[in-house]
Amino acid sequence: MASKRILIKGGKIVNSDSSQISDVYIEDGIIQDVGQNLQPDNIADVKVIDARSKMVIPGGIDTHTHMEFPFMGMCTVDDFYTGTQAAVAGGTTMIIDFAIPQKGCSLIEAYDTWRNWADPKVCCDYALHVAVTWWSEKVKEEMAVLVRDKGVNSFKLFMAYKGLYMVNDMEMYQACSACKEFGAIAQVHAENGDLIAEGAKKMLSLGITGPEGHELCRPEEVEAEATQRAITIANSVNCPLFVVHVMSKSAAKVVANARREGKVVFGEPIAAGLAIDGTNYWHKDWSHAAAHVMGPPLRPDPSTPQYLMHLLANDDLSVTGTDNCTFSTCQKALGKDDFTKIPNGLNGVEDRMSVVWEKGVHSGIMDENRFVAVTSSIAAKIFNMYPRKGKIAKGSDADVVIWDPEATRTISVKTHHQAVNFNVFEGMVCHGVPLVTIAGGRVVYENGTLHTVPGHGKYIPRKPFADYVYSRILQRDEVCQPVPVQREPYKGEVVQLK
Ligand code: URP
Ligand code: ZN
Ligand code: ZN
Ligand code: ZN
Repeated sequence: MASKRILIKGGKIVNSDSSQISDVYIEDGIIQDVGQNLQPDNIADVKVIDARSKMVIPGGIDTHTHMEFPFMGMCTVDDFYTGTQAAVAGGTTMIIDFAIPQKGCSLIEAYDTWRNWADPKVCCDYALHVAVTWWSEKVKEEMAVLVRDKGVNSFKLFMAYKGLYMVNDMEMYQACSACKEFGAIAQVHAENGDLIAEGAKKMLSLGITGPEGHELCRPEEVEAEATQRAITIANSVNCPLFVVHVMSKSAAKVVANARREGKVVFGEPIAAGLAIDGTNYWHKDWSHAAAHVMGPPLRPDPSTPQYLMHLLANDDLSVTGTDNCTFSTCQKALGKDDFTKIPNGLNGVEDRMSVVWEKGVHSGIMDENRFVAVTSSIAAKIFNMYPRKGKIAKGSDADVVIWDPEATRTISVKTHHQAVNFNVFEGMVCHGVPLVTIAGGRVVYENGTLHTVPGHGKYIPRKPFADYVYSRILQRDEVCQPVPVQREPYKGEVVQLK
C-alpha cells in the first residue's frame, strides 16, 4: 500500500475545463505524466489501478472545517486524525481549517497551536485560515507575519458570536484594509450578531427553548443584511471577499447580485445547505433537531438547497465547503433547556463529494467539469494553490480520486468514519462513490478500507496575491481611482464663521 509509484489506467480524467480518457502516472507524490498508453520503467514495482469506465478526478478540497475545535465550552469530537480519515474516505484530499484566537490573543500563537494539533495527526494535506477576532496595530503586524512567513492568505471575520468572536464594522474595515494591503482575501461569517443576541432573548422570553429557537432568532434577513454590509465594507477598500457558509436564498441573492455588479466576492455554500433544510429544527426528537444546529442555520424554506445548487452551477456561488464541526449528542445536550447553549456545528467532510454529485450532477443541475470546479479547482485558485492542487496534470500534487459516478452508497452514522454519533445526511442515497483515494501519492483509501497514517499529510503554505482574486483588484487600483475635477478656484465671497 505504501507504493510510491502508481499507474492509473484507462480512466476518464475530469478536470474543471475538460474531460478525456488517459492514463495517469504518479511517483514521489507528484503526477509525473498524463497521456495515452503510459508505460513506466520497472512496471513490476508499480501499483496499477484499472480505472476503465470510471472517472479520475482531483481530490476534493474542503474549504471550511473545524477539527478539534474548542468552542462553546466543548471540543469537537472529530480531531485532525478522524476528521482527515473521514475526508479521504469521501474523496477529499485537502481541508482548510481555521485557527481562531480569543479576543486580545495573538493570531500567531493561535496559528502555532493549530499547527501543533494538526501536524502530527493529519493524513491528508491541509492549510489554515486565521480568524481576526479583535483589532489593534499588533493584530495588523501579526497578519503581515502570517502572510509573509506562515503561508496564510485568508482571514475570517465574524459578524456574529457577540462578545466572543464578533467584530464591529470599523474593525472589519481595518481588517479588510490590511488584507488588501497584504494580498490576502477577507472571509466573513455574515450574520448580524446584535440582532441574534436580542432575538435569542426574545425567544427565551416566549418560552421557546428548543432548537427551533435557534432559527427563529436569526431569520434569513439577519444573514442577508450582514452579507450586504460585509460586501459594502470590503468593496469600499477594494478588498476581495469570501462569504463562508452561505445558508439562505436571501444571502445567496446578495452575493449573486454583487458579483453581477462586478464586486470581487465569492460565496461558499456547504454540503448540508445543499442537501437538507431547516425544518429539522422542528423535529419532535430533541437530539435530532439539536444535531442540525449550526450558524447560520439551515433554512426552513424547503426550496433552499436546490436554489443554492443552481447558483453554484451557474457561478453565482463559487466553491463548496462543509463547516464540518462535530459535537456529539451529549455535548449538544448542554443546551437541552436553552438553545443558545447548544454547541453550533454539524458534519459533512466525509459526505460532501457524494452529496454534491447526487444533488448537483446526478440531478442534472451541473456537469462533471463544474463538479470538479466547485469541489476543488476554484478553491485552489482562490486560495492560490492552483494547479498544484485542483487539477489532474503533469507536475500537480498526486491528490487523485477514482470516482464511480454510477455506484451508489447510503449515508449512515453506522458506516461513516467520523467520530461523531450523528449524521445529518442519514439515509441519503448518493450516486457518486470514491473507489480509491490517493493523497500525496499514497493510496489512503481503497474499496472501503482506509490505509491512513497520522502525520502523513502536509501543511500547504499559500502565497498572497492569488491571480484569480487579485488581478482585477490590482488593475482597479491602477485605473479606477477617483480623480478631482480640475476647475478655477472660487473667487467670490466666503461667509465668516463667528
Ligand atoms: O455553527 C458553526 N458554523 N460552527 C462553526 C463555527 C463557524 O461559525 O464557522
Ligand atoms: Zn462561521
Ligand atoms: Zn465554520
Ligand atoms: Zn439519485
